[in-house]
Amino acid sequence: MLDKARIGVLGAGNMGEALLGGIIKACIVEAHQITASRRSEVALAYLRDTWGIHTTTDNCELVKANDIILLAVKPQVMGDVLACVAPCFRPGQVVISIAAGITTAFIESFTGNEIPVIRVMPNMPALVGQAVSPYCLGTHGSAAQALVASQIFSAVGVTVQVEEDMMDAITALSGTGPAYLFYLLEGLIEAGKAMGLPDHLCRALVRQTAYGAAKLVVETPRTPRQLRAQVTSPQGTTHAAMEHLDHEQFLERLQGAVLKARDRARELGRAASTRNDPH
Ligand SMILES: NC(=O)c1ccc[n+]([C@@H]2O[C@H](COP(=O)([O-])OP(=O)(O)OC[C@H]3O[C@@H](n4cnc5c(N)ncnc54)[C@H](OP(=O)(O)O)[C@@H]3O)[C@@H](O)[C@H]2O)c1
Repeated sequence: MLDKARIGVLGAGNMGEALLGGIIKACIVEAHQITASRRSEVALAYLRDTWGIHTTTDNCELVKANDIILLAVKPQVMGDVLACVAPCFRPGQVVISIAAGITTAFIESFTGNEIPVIRVMPNMPALVGQAVSPYCLGTHGSAAQALVASQIFSAVGVTVQVEEDMMDAITALSGTGPAYLFYLLEGLIEAGKAMGLPDHLCRALVRQTAYGAAKLVVETPRTPRQLRAQVTSPQGTTHAAMEHLDHEQFLERLQGAVLKARDRARELGRAASTRNDPH
C-alpha cells in the first residue's frame, strides 16, 4: 500500500530522523519518496547527505507534495505550524502526529473533514528499531489508515492500536518510559562510584546488567515482580536493598513521576487548544 506513497516529515528533529531512518532501512519506501522539513538549513543538508531524502524549509511545499504528512514538531509549536499549512492539505492525504498531548480533534480542526488523522506515541528506542508505538485514529480514520500507521511504525519497533483517551497516560508510561530507566541506570552508576569502583567499570557493569535484565523481561514469560522475587533470597543482599526502597516509598514516588508526565501531556494539549482557539 505504501509502495508509491510520498512521505513528508514536518519537523525532522530527533524523532523525525529516527522515524525516517527506520522507514528507509526497513525499505517501507525508498529515500527519494521522503521529504523532510525544519528551519535549519544546516540540519537539512545533514539529513540530505545522510539519508538521500529531499528537504525543504517550506512546510506548505512539503504538505502539498506528499501523501502522508508526519507531524514531528514539538507540541508547543504545533498550533502555529498547522495554522500556516492548513490551506495546503487536500483530500486523499493522511496526517500522522507524534506530538505529546496534541489530540486528533485539534489537528482535525485545521485539516478539515476529509483527511484522516492518526495520533502515535513512539519512543526513543526507535533509534535502534525497538520502539513501542501505540496509535489511535481520529474521527475520519479507517482500518486502511490504521494499516498505514502500523506499517510505518513497524519500521522502528512494535505497534499497538489503542483508544485516544489512553494516549496521555501512554505518553507518560512508554513515551517517557526510557527516561525513567536511564535515570535508574544513572543512579546505579553513581552508587557504584560512591562505593569506590572505577567509572568505566561501573558503566560496563550497569550497561550489561540493564541489557541482560531487559532481555529476561522480554524473553521469559515471568513478570518483573516474579523475576525480582526470583533474585531476592530472604535476608540476602537484594532483600536488604528492596526493603530500603520500600521504606523510602520508591514505587509511590515513581508513580507520582508518571502522573506528573501524564498531567503535563494534558496541559500541552490544553495549551495548544487555548492558544489556537479561533473564538
Ligand atoms: N523525543 C522523544 O522521545 C519523543 C517520543 C515520542 C514523541 N515525541 C514527540 O515528537 C515530537 C518531536 O520531538 P523531538 O524530541 O524529535 O524534538 P526535536 O528534536 O526538537 O524536533 C523537533 C523539530 O522541529 C523543528 N521545527 C521547529 N519549528 C519548526 C517549524 N516551524 N517548521 C518546521 N520544523 C520546525 C525543529 O528544527 P528547526 O529548529 O531546525 O526548525 C526540530 O528539529 C514532539 O512533539 C514530541 O512530543 C518525542
